[in-house]
Amino acid sequence: MERLDKILSTQGICSRKDARKLASDKKITVNGEPVRKTDIKIDPENDIIEIGGKRIEYKKYVYIMMNKPEGVLSASNDRNAETVIDLLPEEYRRPGLFPAGRLDRDTTGLLIITDDGDFAHRMLSPKKHVTKLYKALLDAPVTERDITVIESGITLKDGTVYRPGRITENSGNTVKIEITEGKFHEVKNMFAYVGKTVEKLERLRIGGLVLDENLKRGECRYLTDFEILSIFNSDIN
Ligand code: URA
Repeated sequence: MERLDKILSTQGICSRKDARKLASDKKITVNGEPVRKTDIKIDPENDIIEIGGKRIEYKKYVYIMMNKPEGVLSASNDRNAETVIDLLPEEYRRPGLFPAGRLDRDTTGLLIITDDGDFAHRMLSPKKHVTKLYKALLDAPVTERDITVIESGITLKDGTVYRPGRITENSGNTVKIEITEGKFHEVKNMFAYVGKTVEKLERLRIGGLVLDENLKRGECRYLTDFEILSIFNSDIN
């Protein structure tokens, strides 16, 4: 059970103050009955809330696709730097949102923002084998030998182990690489291991979910239910 005004504000419908005004104007009904007070507790998953006769669709969790621009932190908040959460338009804001799987500050592309911790955990768990595809611009072409090393798996001097990556395309200084984990600086470190510097990095896909080409850098949209499922099942697209 949750307070009606809290539900309306966290669902991005209206502020608590506006909710009080709407209620006093008899515009809000719960299960068909007008409510006069907005501090009443209701069950948002089962009770039917309508404002001006229009039903409010309650979303327990939200799943947002962002095309992350360069120079923005993958974090919920930061005192000194702009974060991906700061970029969200007002109507997408609600408490508890965080980026599920970080991208480096200078990395661009597909990022998922949600308030569903279990979902993020599943998506990031190595056991679920959710692959990620990146496009990398390097300072030099990748050789056959580099590919063999990257596709065999790498152990750094500090003991960090990177499971084998898969080079899916290789043309000039640009490659596409699929990885199964999401360790800190993983792609950059894998190429550094074979003596190459990643100059630009963009994430194109997570599982079966491909970055929407219509989203400009910094823009976002909600994922459909089908797209949420496609993250865990690369074959359904
Ligand atoms: N690998 C990296 O090196 N950086 C990223 O942002 C993502 C994967």
